[in-house]
Amino acid sequence: MAKDLSYSCNECGASFSKWSGRCDGCGAWNSITEHKALASGPKGKTLGGARGRPITLTDLETQEKEPPRTMSGVGELDRVLGGGLVNASALLVGGDPGIGKSTLLLQAAARFARNGLKVIYISGEESNAQVQMRARRLGLEKSPVMLAAETNLRDILTTLEAEKPDLAIIDSIQTMWADNVDSAPGSVSQVRSSAHELTTFAKRNGMSVVMVGHVTKDGTIAGPRVVEHMVDTVLYFEGERGHQFRILRSVKNRFGPADEIGVFEMTGKGLAEVKNPSALFLSERGTPAPGSVVFAGIEGTRPMLCEIQALVAPSPHSQPRRSVVGWDGGRLAMILAVLESRCGVPFTGLDVYLNVAGGLRISEPAADLAVAAALVSAREDAALPSEAVVFGEISLSGALRPVVQTENRLKEAQKLGFTSAIIPQQAKQPAVNGLGLRVAVDLAGFVEEVFGARSV
Ligand code: TYD
Ligand code: MG
Repeated sequence: MAKDLSYSCNECGASFSKWSGRCDGCGAWNSITEHKALASGPKGKTLGGARGRPITLTDLETQEKEPPRTMSGVGELDRVLGGGLVNASALLVGGDPGIGKSTLLLQAAARFARNGLKVIYISGEESNAQVQMRARRLGLEKSPVMLAAETNLRDILTTLEAEKPDLAIIDSIQTMWADNVDSAPGSVSQVRSSAHELTTFAKRNGMSVVMVGHVTKDGTIAGPRVVEHMVDTVLYFEGERGHQFRILRSVKNRFGPADEIGVFEMTGKGLAEVKNPSALFLSERGTPAPGSVVFAGIEGTRPMLCEIQALVAPSPHSQPRRSVVGWDGGRLAMILAVLESRCGVPFTGLDVYLNVAGGLRISEPAADLAVAAALVSAREDAALPSEAVVFGEISLSGALRPVVQTENRLKEAQKLGFTSAIIPQQAKQPAVNGLGLRVAVDLAGFVEEVFGARSV
């Protein structure tokens, strides 16, 4: 028989069959409370005897109508949403504190309001005066957005019920306080319960809700992950604080493609759309230098060129440094190992630094070959031809694998004035006017062809 786990920890969410003063899961004191599950009524009865409403069932074939959408008019945002904001949907916008979530949402709120939606912006973090000051800075003070500074969820829901907006923005979910949950704002149970209340309220009342969630490094405050499963769409706002580029990435979208990105630039007057990100990411590139390689990537449905930089220097430490910004550290280790064991290019005793320029974060294996090229180029102190782009996946055997959307990558490179591309050999070689292709079967062949005789 299944154990009756009717006690759970407010901090970490672990379930127990009996109460105790300290949670075995996370070690928190006085955090365990009893909860009455819906199905806890006496056997044979539902919900303690009360009967529920029968649900209408349907089949798989009958098509529901496409949900209606509203465009914001900000192309980068609408594309990430999958073609505008779906009515009565729940969204989560996550990101590091200070990255620009409030700025993005205030700008989006103003656009949606201008396009006819009734929008309420509720800030639990800033006073009305602070939000109004930001609005003035963004030149949006005349927008018909209604504003409140409030954290009490009961009051917020009552107000939303009376006002009946089309869109409510909650900034942030970690500051919301539901008075029926016995723990501090920001704890797992508060965040989970507030998000649940807001999402169900939104669905029931035909209102869209956007919740802001701060990504947190320590466990005391619950991060957006706790909420991800409840909402229709999860967007993450990323970027390096020192750079002006910001990327809005959809990691989950029930109404559109996931992994789509929108690129913005943080300016003195808020976020500006970047219509041609490749040109922007390459604009800071100087003369061709050893260790710099242009990678032709795909982000979502869009090709995007960016620069990958490597620096290799003799290490003063017994354990050389491996430092990565914008790419996966494990993947770097793999490529170093393949270079060493399959191509005879050792990195022993050398510090390796790898950086994706412009604060972009790449997760495609298609960048393998560009990373390898940057590493060898830095090690050999030999620059690659400046008018060439590079992409391809590397397998552990040292073989090169073709990647998806080769043609789109090549077209983007050609559009930005590149004249050659170094890519893996593939069954059907693509042809793009004005672009010379150099193909390689394996990494050793690539290193040999591009760098010739080396000083190993
Ligand atoms: P904010 O939207 O408050 O970040 P978040 O809500 O994610 O915590 O904005 C953070 C930073 O953006 C802040 O350091 C100031 C900067 N900023 C600009 O550079 N230009 C602007 O127009 C605005 C409004 C903010
Ligand atoms: Mg904020």
